[in-house]
Amino acid sequence: MAIGVGLLGLGTVGAGVAAILIEPQGRHPLVAELQLRRVAVRDPARSRSLALNPALLCSDPEAVVDDPSVEIVVEVMGGLEPARSLILRAIAAGKPVVTANKAVIARHGEEIAAAAAAKGVYVLLEAAVGGGIPIIEPLKQSLGANRILRVSGIINGTTNYILSRMADEGAAYGDVLADAQRLGYAEADPAADVEGHDAADKIAILTALAYGGSVAREAIATEGIDRLQARDVAYAARLGYVVKLLAVAQREGEGDPLPLDVRVHPTLLPKDHPLAGVHGVNNAILVEADPVGRVMFYGPGAGAGPTASAVVADILNIAGTRQVTGTTSGAPLDPLLAASSWRRCSLVDGSQTCHRNYVRLQTCDEAGVIGRIGTCFGSAGVSIQSIVQFEASLGDQEGEAEIVVITHEVQEARFRQALAAIAALAEVRTIAACLRTL
Ligand SMILES: NC(=O)c1ccc[n+]([C@@H]2O[C@H](COP(=O)([O-])OP(=O)(O)OC[C@H]3O[C@@H](n4cnc5c(N)ncnc54)[C@H](OP(=O)(O)O)[C@@H]3O)[C@@H](O)[C@H]2O)c1
Repeated sequence: MAIGVGLLGLGTVGAGVAAILIEPQGRHPLVAELQLRRVAVRDPARSRSLALNPALLCSDPEAVVDDPSVEIVVEVMGGLEPARSLILRAIAAGKPVVTANKAVIARHGEEIAAAAAAKGVYVLLEAAVGGGIPIIEPLKQSLGANRILRVSGIINGTTNYILSRMADEGAAYGDVLADAQRLGYAEADPAADVEGHDAADKIAILTALAYGGSVAREAIATEGIDRLQARDVAYAARLGYVVKLLAVAQREGEGDPLPLDVRVHPTLLPKDHPLAGVHGVNNAILVEADPVGRVMFYGPGAGAGPTASAVVADILNIAGTRQVTGTTSGAPLDPLLAASSWRRCSLVDGSQTCHRNYVRLQTCDEAGVIGRIGTCFGSAGVSIQSIVQFEASLGDQEGEAEIVVITHEVQEARFRQALAAIAALAEVRTIAACLRTL
């Protein structure tokens, strides 16, 4: 029996979804049951590459949600409003929703999940994190027996593309960004990607699914790659590391609420780390859990085809449920498919967490400087793994040296105490870079 689908948005993702629905041959037989009934766009008159019946298009997304022939609402328009209100409107009408909108789910996920649970409808969001990579349903279902210890991922393709090129070519951040924008790998306004906000949205969603409770999105410590310098990428490579924008959600013990350390920042990964080999626009998520161990999910993190693959899989899950229960609304929810929250979580005080660090200092090129820096670290209880002086590069002032320190794991507060003492040394011109290290 046919199932009516309403699309909110026919951009990159929406067009990818429509392309699958209108060509079901060779796919799961349920795809042929899905019928595109109505599509909302901003401008129905605009010419589009997809051969879609123009009568399906309209500029009123509420009319798509309210259309009685639409049984499943697919929100792929993006932005916070009206997307949030449209999702809630669909839920209120008892219609299940599939969305790719990480910004809405990261900020309003609890409100949406509560409304969906009260109404007994599914809201599925496989495409919201990692594009075509299955990670949402695996966290909800396949890994459900585990105690999750850490979820870490490269979950923004734009920044990974930029970092890969900086590493391969020794190029400056600004030059690669400009090229990425020209090639369509970065938006005209790249802030959400390069400042880390997109990755923070996604790790907020993964946190809620991995640990069964959400954390405040705006409280996630977020640092992007926009201030990263080519020389830090180069020095990291010489020391055996690659720099990646990592999003991490880590359990910090037990308790109620469950203490978590959730953050996004450029990170030095040892070259043999599983995430170090993820290049270009690809994404990967590494889940460390008890008892399964380490499981890694890898693949294309964005783009029409990969993202539509995830969206249509969610639609199929709902269609499959209807085959069993006879209805898409008011059905008894499969608890593993439905979003559920069973625990309170809280973010720990960042100054108390422990990490390894990379620090680059610009100093006078004088005897004894390295010793005095080492003393500052030692006095604060920071143990050093390596300390290296690099030769002055082109453009450096004469008589200046660059010293790179990699610390062992240390509490953030102690590390900051050492940095304050180092900054006060007469020989130290500036603390030029400070990055986390795995
Ligand atoms: N692109 C990716 O690779 C990717 C990957 C994962 C997740 N996502 C998420 O998927 C969502 C869609 O992304 P996208 O790249 O497909 O966006 P997009 O290319 O900008 O497309 C947005 C679509 O929504 C329509 N639209 C926007 N506001 C509307 C409104 N108020 N009323 C009616 N229609 C409206 C636009 O209409 P017009 O066509 O008339 O402009 C367009 O068709 C976002 O939440 C995004 O974060 C995207």
